[in-house]
Amino acid sequence: MTESHDHAHELVNVPDDAVVNDLYANPGIPEHQWRPTDVDPKAEKRAERQVAALFGLSALCTILLLVSYFVFDIGDDPDVVGGLGASNLFLGLSLAGALLFLGIGIIQWARKLMADHEIVEDRHPAASSTEDREATIAALNAGLEESGIGRRPLVRNSLLGAVGLLGLPAVVLLRDLGPTPNQVKNSGDYPGAGIEHTLWKKGMRVVRDVVGTPIRPGDLEIGDLVNAEPEAIFNGGADGEPLEGVALQIGKSKGAVVVVRMEPDEITPGKGRENWSVDGIVCYSKICTHVGCPISLYERTTHHLLCPCHQSTFDLADSAKVVFGPAARPLPQLPLEVDDEGYLVASDAFDEPVGPSFWERG
Ligand code: FES
Repeated sequence: MTESHDHAHELVNVPDDAVVNDLYANPGIPEHQWRPTDVDPKAEKRAERQVAALFGLSALCTILLLVSYFVFDIGDDPDVVGGLGASNLFLGLSLAGALLFLGIGIIQWARKLMADHEIVEDRHPAASSTEDREATIAALNAGLEESGIGRRPLVRNSLLGAVGLLGLPAVVLLRDLGPTPNQVKNSGDYPGAGIEHTLWKKGMRVVRDVVGTPIRPGDLEIGDLVNAEPEAIFNGGADGEPLEGVALQIGKSKGAVVVVRMEPDEITPGKGRENWSVDGIVCYSKICTHVGCPISLYERTTHHLLCPCHQSTFDLADSAKVVFGPAARPLPQLPLEVDDEGYLVASDAFDEPVGPSFWERG
């Protein structure tokens, strides 16, 4: 035997299989307990009848299902259980009953009547053989010995320090998950930053996207849709300059709106929104409340605005309520009025955050 092999036995004590077997003796199987149905013929007959009764109930439910199908038309009595309808209700209940009683019957059959054997299945030992374990430990110890880690505390401690420090970046980098949306760094540089705010405020003109020209109500025909921005995009920088860089990106991406004109009597104003439109002109955030795609696919006869990303559809005549798709809430509406010079302006800011609704919003 080599020197390092001897050393392995000094460092690690490997118990052999005989010692393990002595320490954990086989406890054996407790005495078998017979079930009442194994020893009492009356109990056995009773269990048999129970199981048959359960199968009978299942069959009854299946017949009920077939009868319900022919007796109730879809749409019959739609007021049943909050609009479920009689047909749905009876089909669902009878199918559930048929499967439930069948399942319970099979379980009772297995538990009470099927043969009651105890089966022993020996497990194969999970541990490696003693020789393999000794060889592995020897190799490990030889490696430790040759590396000299025990004899060189300077190397060992500096290694432990270096590895320990590696954990710190993981903690520090968590900061890069970012400020919460309402704590934008230097938010004074970015007007309208944060989740609760946009550039819109009372008196801010609604201007055309890209060109920035203000809009008079008379400029829009019935059925028109105009992509628009808050005027501050074009004059909200220092000295009345257009916004630039990050400030422009933030202001534009959150303040984008669509302005639509329809017949005034086609609008169903939401509660408290009776004066939010001007001559049938309504204005909504252009940012889809699903995951934030910009929307402007408008269908003038239905007043529906369709998001191209996942087909959420909003009814602009009815407070932009969701009529289809995955969006969870209507598009925020911007209240409009006309200023002294006859141009469309916001009569207030949005009264809720724009954009995706995965944030919990009050
Ligand atoms: S982003 Fe509009 S439907 Fe998904």
